[in-house]
Amino acid sequence: MMLNIPRLFVFGLITVVRRSCAFLENTDKEVTEPPKIAIIGGGIGGTSASYFLSELFGDDAILDLYEADTIGGRLATIPIGERKYEVGGSIIHPKNEYMVKFASKFGLAKRAECSSRMGLFNGEEYVFKDSDWSFVTIMKLLWRYGLDAYRLEELTESMLGSFGKIYRLQEEGHAYEDVGSLLSAMDPTFLKMTHSPTASWLKGLGFHDLMINELVMAVTQCNYGQTPDIQAFVGAISVAGADSDLWAVDGGNRRVPEELLKASRAALLKRLVTEISFKEDGRFTVASVDSEMPFKHLFVEGNSAAIPEVEEQISQPQDYDIVIIATPLTEDKSNIKFTNFTEELKFPGRYERIVCTMVQGKLVPETLKFTDDDPLDEILVTNPRLIFNSFGKQFPVDLEDCSENLPDVWKIFSPNPLPEEQLNIFFKERNSTHVIDWLAYPHYESDQEMAKFVLTPGMYHVNAIEWAGSAMEMEIIGAKNVALLAYKYWKKDPNAGRKTIKDEL
Ligand SMILES: Cc1cc2nc3c(=O)[nH]c(=O)nc-3n(C[C@H](O)[C@H](O)[C@H](O)COP(=O)(O)OP(=O)(O)OC[C@H]3O[C@@H](n4cnc5c(N)ncnc54)[C@H](O)[C@@H]3O)c2cc1C
Ligand SMILES: *[C@@H]1O[C@H](CO)[C@@H](O)[C@H](O)[C@H]1NC(C)=O
Ligand SMILES: *[C@@H]1O[C@H](CO)[C@@H](O)[C@H](O)[C@H]1NC(C)=O
Repeated sequence: MMLNIPRLFVFGLITVVRRSCAFLENTDKEVTEPPKIAIIGGGIGGTSASYFLSELFGDDAILDLYEADTIGGRLATIPIGERKYEVGGSIIHPKNEYMVKFASKFGLAKRAECSSRMGLFNGEEYVFKDSDWSFVTIMKLLWRYGLDAYRLEELTESMLGSFGKIYRLQEEGHAYEDVGSLLSAMDPTFLKMTHSPTASWLKGLGFHDLMINELVMAVTQCNYGQTPDIQAFVGAISVAGADSDLWAVDGGNRRVPEELLKASRAALLKRLVTEISFKEDGRFTVASVDSEMPFKHLFVEGNSAAIPEVEEQISQPQDYDIVIIATPLTEDKSNIKFTNFTEELKFPGRYERIVCTMVQGKLVPETLKFTDDDPLDEILVTNPRLIFNSFGKQFPVDLEDCSENLPDVWKIFSPNPLPEEQLNIFFKERNSTHVIDWLAYPHYESDQEMAKFVLTPGMYHVNAIEWAGSAMEMEIIGAKNVALLAYKYWKKDPNAGRKTIKDEL
């Protein structure tokens, strides 16, 4: 969801390394026979993994991408009236280099972003409201939060600087077996942050309770449906999501995974993977069933979180040299069975339920304690006991001009479905109501165990990275990492894929 904390929170890029004049030196060994690779999941993680695998292996590798539902996964749009709206992952940070690069490579424009007024609501009243003038808003922020407002911006800026190191490391072909080592390679503090609650980490840096309980609470609620008890690395990602320079892809963010799949050499198998088994020769058998859109109810009112019951259908097992899993594997999110592995594979944890209610209709502003004379477009909450996590006015994915006359569409995130009676109180007129029930992102602990990318040699898990933080760019970084791991494994050479990038002085 788009926040609009004004430009005080714009994070400048600290360019760690100058890359414009870099040249590449390839140190790869001779190519061996082409491997057969399965990619399971066609979200941004699986499609970018396919893309990177095509890049690394060249024409020869045989890539099969299994997707049971829709390409894009948690990047999803629904039609409301004549237009489409984002209902899943919606905002992208300007420093998300992979997303920026993909959008430009595929000729995808940024969609128009309109200014909006945000308020921080505690259930009774607004503890903070944007002004129409960003200068006044900045003064109000400094008035309420003092230097904390400025220091939070500085902190995020410096973290983004360290975060940016990953692009250079990956371009040079470095890969990591687990999420902890990947984070440490960017900055050892990042791994420590995953073991500390956001609130105490910020307190340790001298931030005050007011800032943590209001602004930070509002962004963790809005972005992850959780409180600042969540581990501090994902807490920091939430804070970075409060920039005003955030963007989205014209036509919908799911266009990026669609284009990535086309640009890769993967064949799309519209099948639901049911079982992966380890073979004596070290290869893998992937069993799947025909899926005539088992999650079809995703785009109607109902529960997309429920895992579909798979009827007994003819299974078509296929053998692969390498398997890339690009979907969450926790019990609540996956039915994939793992058989004949020497070690038991465990996927602890659960995903957070976020109900996204899209209403086209007229809001009764008084029910949210504001008036038509003093309108708000974005209501964030500082109280985790409210029935909603955020409430925001939406624009279609193909918006060209903010002055366009559009019917009001509101997006409400809540931990549980909103009862009809409640919606009738919020809205005086409702043309349409769509409910998308997500198991959206991990339920984060204060001290979060980091997962492994390598499940066994030859089998890799992109979504391990979600336990550090779930976001489009994170999935792409995870995908690039597992593509490199797979390449090194196949070449039997830990240095395969390594490049030396020399900067011109
Ligand atoms: C409501 C919401 C808001 C969000 N907001 C943002 C945001 O503003 N910015 C941001 O960067 N991120 C945001 N995120 C997070 C972001 O959307 C996710 O991190 C990212 O899209 C996950 O991508 P993925 O490819 O790893 O997983 P998914 O998108 O979940 O893809 C997995 C795919 O695998 C398929 N699949 C699963 N099991 C099988 C099987 N057995 N066989 C075959 N196929 C299978 C599924 O159908 C799915 O398409 C948001 C997420 C949600 C839900
Ligand atoms: C698991 O291994 C056993 C013994 O090697 C074999 O009989 C069985 O078919 C295997 N199962 C699968 C699903 O490959
Ligand atoms: C309801 O839909 C009609 C037709 O699409 C539109 O003209 C009208 O503005 C909508 N009303 C509201 C309250 O959104």
